[in-house]
Amino acid sequence: TNPGSKTLQFDLTARKSILTIAGQKAEVLTYNNSFPGPLLEAQEGDQVMVRFHNQLQVPSNLHLHGIFMSPEDDKPHEVVAPGTTLTYAFEAQAGSAGMYWYHPHAHGSVTRQLFEGLSGPMIIRGPLDRIEPLASATEKVLVLHDIQIENGKVAPHEGMDWGRGKEGNLVLVNGESRPTLPIPTGLLRLRIVNASAARYYKLGVPGKKLQVIGLDGSFLEQPVSVDTLLLSPGERADILLEATEASTLSLLNLPYKRTPMGPSQDTPVEGALLATFEVQGDTNTVHLPEKLLEIPELNLATATDHKTLTFGATMQPLQFTINNKVFDHHRTDLSARADTLEVWDIVNPMGMDHPFHLHTFPFQLISLNGEPAPFRAWKDVVNVPANSTVRIAIPFRKYTGKVMYHCHILEHEDVGMMGNLEVL
Ligand code: C2O
Ligand code: CU
Ligand code: CU
Repeated sequence: TNPGSKTLQFDLTARKSILTIAGQKAEVLTYNNSFPGPLLEAQEGDQVMVRFHNQLQVPSNLHLHGIFMSPEDDKPHEVVAPGTTLTYAFEAQAGSAGMYWYHPHAHGSVTRQLFEGLSGPMIIRGPLDRIEPLASATEKVLVLHDIQIENGKVAPHEGMDWGRGKEGNLVLVNGESRPTLPIPTGLLRLRIVNASAARYYKLGVPGKKLQVIGLDGSFLEQPVSVDTLLLSPGERADILLEATEASTLSLLNLPYKRTPMGPSQDTPVEGALLATFEVQGDTNTVHLPEKLLEIPELNLATATDHKTLTFGATMQPLQFTINNKVFDHHRTDLSARADTLEVWDIVNPMGMDHPFHLHTFPFQLISLNGEPAPFRAWKDVVNVPANSTVRIAIPFRKYTGKVMYHCHILEHEDVGMMGNLEVL
């Protein structure tokens, strides 16, 4: 435990704001008049309270995405009326150091509220963040959030958008189009959140390996070196870049086809620039961390249940389903026993990708189409590619209660691709 643990209180006020976005004045939705919302930071051991004030004209609420917290305190079903306040509280637990984010979760209006600007980043720090080499790395939090502005307002969704997932023509990094960020030579630590409603990002930095040290709300066991990394909506990545000499590094969004329907028409050209890092200073050497977090290998032979969740859709009306059911807030779809391990197959027979998300309980990716996962990681969102099956294993520990699982393409969630799991 952390002897210096504190009680932290944050206030987030959702409201309409007029901001200048990529040179255009626009009416957007913000937390604390900021797009994206402010960075919330805590240390493992802290007690965290987030008071959410709804100054919108419509109901909303707040979900602390990825936090290992009691379902009772997550309360994504509970809606906050205009003009009222609701407090969300949790303890930042040992081992939970990682990247998180927050966004609205009022079923039926999540997509629009998020697309119009409501999301923000959150970091929990732990012992690994306080020692070298991470302690002296230059850290940049990058919130990726696309938007589309027409006549001073956020462009509306049209019929087709609810099926394919709307992508805005402006891809923003911390609310700016293609920012240039000066950084000193050394280790650069990028903490990236895909806070888009539907857009995927295939990240790459030409000439550099991405040294992935964390995904979602957890460190990996050791750095994993890759050329590109796909982030589906809701996913986060903690990436080190060895920026040892003065240079210009470009963070790109490389082509990736998540749906045969194609994204929205106005999508920027593929291979688009997200941000530029101007690396300045003397040449130096850097060290990558060798060992990060120990992640237990789950013994699947001890699993007490094996569930299959299959994605689907109906036309007229357009609805997306899990196991042929459209979300109903009053229905419990699945149950699990506390303190057991379960194995789930997430089956996607559709021609488009869907990112699967489970609240409260982190899981491990076991395989994709029977191919074992290349390394162990705790995840809370996993992309399920078109015509594919992903197998995950979930230890249900510590908490009981009702949690949600859903597709994190928020259009799909709003049109029914969500369910309730009760842990007993
Ligand atoms: Cu990011 Cu159910 O949420
Ligand atoms: Cu969530
Ligand atoms: Cu989906």
